[in-house]
Amino acid sequence: MAVLIDGKAISKQIKDELRDKVAELKAQGREVTLAVIQVGNDPASSVYVGNKKKACEYIGIRSLAYEMPEETSEEELLQLIDELNGRADVNGILVQLPLPGQIDEDKVIRRIDPAKDVDGFHPQSVGALCIGQPGFVSCTPAGVIQLLKRSGIEIAGKECVVIGRSNIVGKPMALLLLRENGTVTVAHSRTKDLKEVTKRADILIVAVGKPRMITAEYIKEGAVVIDVGIHRDENNKLCGDVDFETVMPRCSAITPVPGGVGPMTIAMLMNNCVESVL
Ligand code: GUN
Repeated sequence: MAVLIDGKAISKQIKDELRDKVAELKAQGREVTLAVIQVGNDPASSVYVGNKKKACEYIGIRSLAYEMPEETSEEELLQLIDELNGRADVNGILVQLPLPGQIDEDKVIRRIDPAKDVDGFHPQSVGALCIGQPGFVSCTPAGVIQLLKRSGIEIAGKECVVIGRSNIVGKPMALLLLRENGTVTVAHSRTKDLKEVTKRADILIVAVGKPRMITAEYIKEGAVVIDVGIHRDENNKLCGDVDFETVMPRCSAITPVPGGVGPMTIAMLMNNCVESVL
């Protein structure tokens, strides 16, 4: 029977550790401040931004909210980023994605000072990860590593398969597993015979973006399965990229959706904010 990896409990543990650290910093007269910028009012983005503010409050991080209208120009957003880059009292800057069509996301990400890039999306942060130098790491894959480590799952020497090659999850995930000395394969939509590849995995990380796509026949007996996906199914029930009911009996450990990877992303964002002042 598989062990359930409890992302809610592990994220709480991390947030509590961070709360202690922030209190220590405050006692030394140092404050942590995160600036969160949202352009427009996409409902999903509003929920994410709200959750980020709540996590800041819990930990004792000061959060500055910038809510800009949908029709904001690229220049106006870049000006705000320049201002925040220049402010000594702002440690982290987060621009909630996606942005409205008139704004070039890449240009915006590149404008954020890498020293304040708590999302870990700046090319300099990604490059540093690639060559094993210090820098901010994208929050979701960083959260997956913490789930594995804090569940006592050894990565070194293991066959790790990542399905998905996005800049935010798949690619940094592969680099982080490599940094932990895993043997890493990245599979994607053009991979031939995906099942043959995934069945080699001791640790399978699924970030395909298709509800319940990964069924039992993709899984090696005893594998650890981490599900990065989150969707609403036809009955409005939350589900992941993994068909939990059929996969769970085959694996040694698995993350549920909700309550697996999801809560870890915000915990790691908070971690990056605290690291931005250290
Ligand atoms: N939109 C969805 N996920 C994220 C995230 O992790 N960071 C930012 N900035 N925007 C997002």
